[in-house]
Amino acid sequence: MKITILTIFPDFVESSLNYSILGKARENNLIDVEVVNIRDFTRDKHKVTDDSPYGGGPGMVMKPEPIFNSFESLSGDYYSILATPQGNLLKQDKVIELSKKKHLVILSGHYEGVDQRVRDKLIDEEISIGDYVLTGGELPALVLIDAISRYIPGVLGNQESLEEESFSKGLLEYPQYTRPREYKGLEVPEVLLSGNHQRIADWRKEQSIKKTKQVRPDLLKNNPKV
Ligand code: ADE
Repeated sequence: MKITILTIFPDFVESSLNYSILGKARENNLIDVEVVNIRDFTRDKHKVTDDSPYGGGPGMVMKPEPIFNSFESLSGDYYSILATPQGNLLKQDKVIELSKKKHLVILSGHYEGVDQRVRDKLIDEEISIGDYVLTGGELPALVLIDAISRYIPGVLGNQESLEEESFSKGLLEYPQYTRPREYKGLEVPEVLLSGNHQRIADWRKEQSIKKTKQVRPDLLKNNPKV
């Protein structure tokens, strides 16, 4: 899979992509991430990418020309996303859908927004990663790449963790423990040491439901597994 990020902060994006599972996935050519500097596609001496809004108002707007020029430099077919708080709220189903695309292009918005003509002509879908406003679209772009890359075969060492996730879809994770069996007087629940797979599975499901009821009761509506 190929992902292109269009950004005015290429160094930030590039350096963040080189760690941990994502870094290894790139090294092993499982995912090809290309970072494009929008500023390289300005045609003025000062490489300006923003301007004040028509009609007045606070803040600056990303200019259309450098973004159109950036898109025109791309080749082949792709699916384009604008990271913006005005977009569709990102959910796991969307992550899975996007992980099946051959080439994704993510535009990281900045300032007060992006010229509407970019949105109308160049963007297939607008995505928000949550109901809060960040200073720019770079972190959302990285969130998207991170979440998507987990679904690319070979990226996760342990493919079972994805299967386990889809099994418990719609519920929050149950508590996990590792060695030691007792730490500072705190014990691992006995059931996990029992070796009884059915009891363990039942306990985990019960814990998942309890946790989901406590913090995300909205997820339990229409859940056939509960
Ligand atoms: N840019 C700023 N805030 C954002 C958000 N919540 N999601 C996506 N892009 C953003």
